[in-house]
Amino acid sequence: MSPAQTQDDRDDAAIRARVEDLLSQMTLAEKAGQLTQYFSLGAPDATVGPSPQAPGEVEEALARGGAGSLLFVTDPAETNRLQRLAVEGSRQGIPALFGFDVIHGLRTIFPVPIAMAASWDPETMERGQAVAAREARAVGIHWTFAPMVDIARDPRWGRIVEGAGEDPHLGAAVAAAQVRGFQGERLGAPEHVIAGPKHFAGYGAAVGGRDYDEVELSDSQLWNVYLPPFKAAIEAGAGNVMTAYMDLNGIPASGNQWLLTDVLRQQWGFEGFLVSDANAVRSLVTHGFAADLADAAARAVDVGLDLEMAMSDPAYTRLPEAVEAGMVSVEAVDACVRRVLKAKLRMGLFEQPYVDEERAHAVLSDPAHREVARVAAQRSAVLLRNEGGLLPLDAAGLGSVAVLGPLADSQRDTLGPWVFDYDLDETVTVLKGLQDRLGGTTEVRYAPGVRPAQRVFPSMFDMFPGNTPPDPEGFDDDAELARAVDLARDSDVAVVVLGEWQQMIGEAASRSSLELPGRQLELLQAVVATGTPVVLLVMNGRPLDLRWAVQHVPAILDIWYPGSQGGAAVADLLLGDVSPGGKLPFTWPRSVGQVPMVYAHTTSHEPEKQATRYWDEESTPLFPFGFGLSYARFRYSDLVLDRQVLPVGESLTASVTVTNEGDRDGDEVVQLYLHQRHGSASRPVRELKGFQRVHVAAGASRTVELTIGPDERRYWNAAARDFVLDASTFDVWVGGDSTAALATTFSSEA
Ligand code: NOJ
Repeated sequence: MSPAQTQDDRDDAAIRARVEDLLSQMTLAEKAGQLTQYFSLGAPDATVGPSPQAPGEVEEALARGGAGSLLFVTDPAETNRLQRLAVEGSRQGIPALFGFDVIHGLRTIFPVPIAMAASWDPETMERGQAVAAREARAVGIHWTFAPMVDIARDPRWGRIVEGAGEDPHLGAAVAAAQVRGFQGERLGAPEHVIAGPKHFAGYGAAVGGRDYDEVELSDSQLWNVYLPPFKAAIEAGAGNVMTAYMDLNGIPASGNQWLLTDVLRQQWGFEGFLVSDANAVRSLVTHGFAADLADAAARAVDVGLDLEMAMSDPAYTRLPEAVEAGMVSVEAVDACVRRVLKAKLRMGLFEQPYVDEERAHAVLSDPAHREVARVAAQRSAVLLRNEGGLLPLDAAGLGSVAVLGPLADSQRDTLGPWVFDYDLDETVTVLKGLQDRLGGTTEVRYAPGVRPAQRVFPSMFDMFPGNTPPDPEGFDDDAELARAVDLARDSDVAVVVLGEWQQMIGEAASRSSLELPGRQLELLQAVVATGTPVVLLVMNGRPLDLRWAVQHVPAILDIWYPGSQGGAAVADLLLGDVSPGGKLPFTWPRSVGQVPMVYAHTTSHEPEKQATRYWDEESTPLFPFGFGLSYARFRYSDLVLDRQVLPVGESLTASVTVTNEGDRDGDEVVQLYLHQRHGSASRPVRELKGFQRVHVAAGASRTVELTIGPDERRYWNAAARDFVLDASTFDVWVGGDSTAALATTFSSEA
């Protein structure tokens, strides 16, 4: 062994040898078993409703070495029970790899991912996902189906809530931060899990925003917008990638040779394992791509789709017959098995297949985790309006507060979608947060005003109890509305919490409208009409139609679905213990008819009429990308570049001074935008190319430096069919949102 070898190299060599040894002992059926992942929904003590699986299907598969991986198990005792079946069912004693959707926390729930992205704070994201990983690993989960790094430019698509919004630069930074948080310093680090960026690729561009529908994306859109967050996640070391459900340009993503082999493995050198989205291998038949399940299995393995995630009757059980029929080679199957076994060995499963149930409970109740969640919720809120400085509220002068709207008192909705193992009792709603914070001195009274709105069509998550808001019995709509309005009239301030119920957003939760569901707008209008000052808190994961509110409501704070400690964080923000510092990770349209609407568009014919493209509505957004106010007041000055002219392949540094001219401390997200004036393609009017969130004390100044390297200027060009780096003149803007005015220029030369 040469001295230059690192411990990692030695571990790798040992792992490779062990993998070959195991492989040499396995039958084809056992290999197929290692490539099969089952949902486990039917456990005896599971809290879920009717399972789509036949009773005992999972146990039967485990007993014959037919399930190399399981998902949806969060109870440590159940993990141990199933793991024992896996180890005993496999002739080689191979443990099962447990995966789960740990999207924004397991027990301690963090703000939803779009909210975390709105913090523009990679450290907060990393810290949050490290806590999530710690809780997950403690109950026996080795791998999370996260981060979701799909760019979303159409808010009708419900899964916008799971990602980082519309921008590839922000998306890449958010993706990498989450991978670091989940995985720690290396794959297999204690108290960490494998990260699985998903859904590869293009899933967010579903036609009409309709979840699962086809995606048509140009190569230029793919390379410049949709792929960069995946590349960043892989460069950060992600051990897994999940494929997407839909057709990408006519080829199902889960059977797409170009995506999975040419781009991911060959061009990017991804060495981890791939998993299909749930039932996506079977769907290759539904798509009209594969002839039958054997063909689907053969073709998926052929493009390197290592693990099939399946609810029932997995296609990969047909792999032995497919190999025997010459539809796929045993070498292709072996390549997949190697990658799966390698992940198990890297994660130390053979040494430690079981979990310590007692320790798991201690980790889940660690109070330090709740504090991380509270800070994350503080940092992700976005202040959209604050006329006359209504916020922060002064606790001293506040006799009474009316807290209105059913979302103000809904623990389940405060947590947001994509959580299953939460603790409702410890979830702090807005009402509870304000009561705890103000209760001693101020009267905090609550009225729902309206009943929870319901979906027209059921949700796929209805099978999990508590996901659908109960329709309150004997609720007299008009009387309740009047009662809420009276309460507002009789209070010093009304805090109105409006938005979407959490099952209205997420997977299979696309919408054809962006309006506030139910009678919420009516409630808001009636409360504003009382003349009592109104603070609107928006609970959402997508932009909603707030055109009326921005005209009539003095203070609007977007709190998203803020998680376990959401209400406590909201109280901190409303009372001014901290200043809001989040910024929008998407362009906020005025109405659904404008979507998709992104700030990084190109200039076209008659740009002076850009704002009046529709005859019935401005074609500007309600709020621009990157926007967010503060209780502090920031001024930008002294934008200086360290060089004005540079060789095309070199970097320069921009520096700018941010001064807090207000009388409160606050955070500002300094954003740098770039525009290439001419070259071998027309480039967007501006694109985010750097950012940094900084804390600036009242009256103080900070100098921020941001580097613009060749990577920030390189783009994929549809004429060259490749990445290019043009010599050109560039405009640079630095400021607090995508309309930043402070500008300078530089040129790059060939
Ligand atoms: C389907 C979703 O698309 C995916 O994101 C998720 O990880 C799996 N189901 C497993 O729950």
